[in-house]
Amino acid sequence: MRPLIFAANWKMHLGPEGARRFLHSFLERHEALPDRETWFFPSAVALETVARLTGDRPAIRTGAQNVYWEPKGAFTGELSVGMAREAGAQAGLVGHSERRHVFGETDQETGRKVRALLESDLTPMLCVGEKIEQREAGETLGVVQRQLSALDGLGRDALAQIVIAYEPVWAIGTGKTATPEDAAEVHAAIRDWFTERGVSPETTRVLYGGSVKPDNIHALISQPEIDGVLVGGASLDPASWSEIVRVTLD
Ligand code: 13P
Repeated sequence: MRPLIFAANWKMHLGPEGARRFLHSFLERHEALPDRETWFFPSAVALETVARLTGDRPAIRTGAQNVYWEPKGAFTGELSVGMAREAGAQAGLVGHSERRHVFGETDQETGRKVRALLESDLTPMLCVGEKIEQREAGETLGVVQRQLSALDGLGRDALAQIVIAYEPVWAIGTGKTATPEDAAEVHAAIRDWFTERGVSPETTRVLYGGSVKPDNIHALISQPEIDGVLVGGASLDPASWSEIVRVTLD
């Protein structure tokens, strides 16, 4: 069994000092459990702090919230994979719905970012998910499959490295969560997509994200199709994040 992943996406919160304070409080109460990993996606300026303060904990990993695919050059404001790696990143988030819908990131761009991460041995975590009008029009699986097509052309070994986070756009920061059963249906379709391309279903990791909180984590993580969670708001408070990552499984 691959470990469950509890991933914190801090978005545009917590600089180096905020990250240090958070970790001081979180690590004090944190106990590693053998069946799970905790991942942090801090702001770019806090990457190094998080990687340094958690470096002696093998079950904690750090990742960049966004990367650019070119290795260097005149790309003002961008972060290369090499720079993220130098700061301690072991993973990179790609195609988060805020990148897609606020900054206009396309499937083609997410594909290039995934490839750049793979080339440097960083784990890509590709986010997919539908908007409310797409769900209501019955287009959820079609939208998710189109977003997965950014991975077309990658071989089985490369696909096996990728973690998928299913985050319905309407559930992000809204307090609305997909029911565990609805989420599990999309997760199963994502797993099938990978299986059809030769990746064993046990290898594919599909996380759920969107208003995950201490009071709904148990129902979500109890679904066999859900291999972990990607959490925004509730990962910013050390107490609620501790509660989420130590949830008891049945
Ligand atoms: P919330 O947990 O705040 O809904 O955010 C989810 C998310 O976007 C994680 O990437």
